Amino acid sequence: MKTQEEYLQGLRQWLRDTEHEPLEEMSAFFEKRMDDYEEHMSVWEKSYRLVAESLPGECRKILDLGCGTGLELDQIWKKNPDIEVTGVDLCRDMLDKLLEKHPDKHFTAVCQDYFQYDPGCGQWDAVISFESLHHFLPERKKELYQKIYRSIKAGRVFILGDYIACCDEEEELLRDTYLRRRKQSAVPEDRFVHFDIPLTMEHETGLLRGVGFQIENVMDEDAAVIVCRKREAD
Ligand SMILES: C[S@@+](CC[C@H](N)C(=O)[O-])C[C@H]1O[C@@H](n2cnc3c(N)ncnc32)[C@H](O)[C@@H]1O
Repeated sequence: MKTQEEYLQGLRQWLRDTEHEPLEEMSAFFEKRMDDYEEHMSVWEKSYRLVAESLPGECRKILDLGCGTGLELDQIWKKNPDIEVTGVDLCRDMLDKLLEKHPDKHFTAVCQDYFQYDPGCGQWDAVISFESLHHFLPERKKELYQKIYRSIKAGRVFILGDYIACCDEEEELLRDTYLRRRKQSAVPEDRFVHFDIPLTMEHETGLLRGVGFQIENVMDEDAAVIVCRKREAD
């Protein structure tokens, strides 16, 4: 097991080694890695199961933001094959793979940017998102969390599974590198690129609380799972 300092040293070295690699557009990044994507993500298996186990008992209709090929949905449908899912993802190839794996499920694929998607009001028994939101700055996430909060039925949950920075230094190092490299490459403001900018647990849960969620459970695995509840009265 690495110490925090060893981990940060490895990260700084990796950032130096990859400094001159071009930033890849988000959807193209995943398209290019379709062949070994699921194997690469299999390290998070425990967290995928935790997402499935954290869903409320009577749960009929859920929304998955950045569903990809549906690794979290594999676990959810294993437990409850009748659950209806709407999955939003930018990458057509990822959605096609999901549809190919689960032709018999109640699944609506939406190939769209989730910042543009309208999830409606008080509609979902649960909203989930796994390993997708750590690519965005907190200002953007706040806007999305407000939308998610409104879209969930009163008293129901948002389950966020994601990469969490181990300390302020990791959060700042990655964000500063991301902003600098976007600027150097003159990436237009509205273009999504694949680069990880996770928040610390304190900052992530602070954002979620800030839009009204009560943090009900934090499972601090390699990919953390945070269960957030919407108030009954809202
Ligand atoms: C690391 S993958 C995770 C996929 C899936 N949740 C899983 O754990 O296997 C991140 C996914 O988020 C999607 N994504 C990233 N930004 C997005 C956005 N703004 N709108 C919709 N999907 C997005 C990517 O296309 C990709 O499929």
